[in-house]
Amino acid sequence: LNYRNTSFITSAPDIRHLPQDAGVEIAFAGRSNAGKSSALNRLTDQKGLARTSKTPGRTQLINMFEVVQGCNLIDLPGYGFAQVPLEMKLKWQKSLGEYLQRRECLQGLVVLMDIRHPMKDLDQQMINWALESRLPVLVLLTKADKLKSGARKAQVLKIRQMTKDLEGDVQVEAFSSLKGIGVDQVRRKLDEWYAP
Ligand code: GTP
Ligand code: MG
Repeated sequence: LNYRNTSFITSAPDIRHLPQDAGVEIAFAGRSNAGKSSALNRLTDQKGLARTSKTPGRTQLINMFEVVQGCNLIDLPGYGFAQVPLEMKLKWQKSLGEYLQRRECLQGLVVLMDIRHPMKDLDQQMINWALESRLPVLVLLTKADKLKSGARKAQVLKIRQMTKDLEGDVQVEAFSSLKGIGVDQVRRKLDEWYAP
């Protein structure tokens, strides 16, 4: 697919307000500040498509984008943001779980984590929820430009090792929105999920 033609469709305050459960959907999830919005912008070659910020918790709405008719991308709000009251965190985690388990048109989950701080509890929870629903998972170790090549490779191998015994389809790649690392792998995976 040509990801450069991606356009914004709508924002929803929560999962219940998303457009109807139709077409093929791929969601980007990850902790606040992991680089989800930056990754979407890099993938689509559009700097201002998804709003990015130095302040964690920037994306509080669920944003939906259309690559081509029937092929949608979802930018989920980040989880694990310390400044959010516990009650809101728990509520949001529950609705993320529901989305992963109930959204029929969801075909795959991209879980983004800072390559320097990967696989926190909630990251593992996201992966488990997706795999329980038989969804394939692409783990992107973001901000890979922050590590030298040797350390980067070691980190990728470590996370591959951590996920290799999971029951399901999990691929792990290094990614950098800044340097363009891993962009081709993401496009290839998404193409596969959109056209099985
Ligand atoms: P929330 O919407 O708050 O959940 O955050 P997000 O996951 O969408 O992160 P966002 O894309 O807004 O990026 C957060 C910060 O990380 C910004 O300051 C980005 O410039 C920075 N960042 C994102 N990707 C990269 C990258 O590949 N390399 C480097 N060095 N910085 C990055
Ligand atoms: Mg964001």
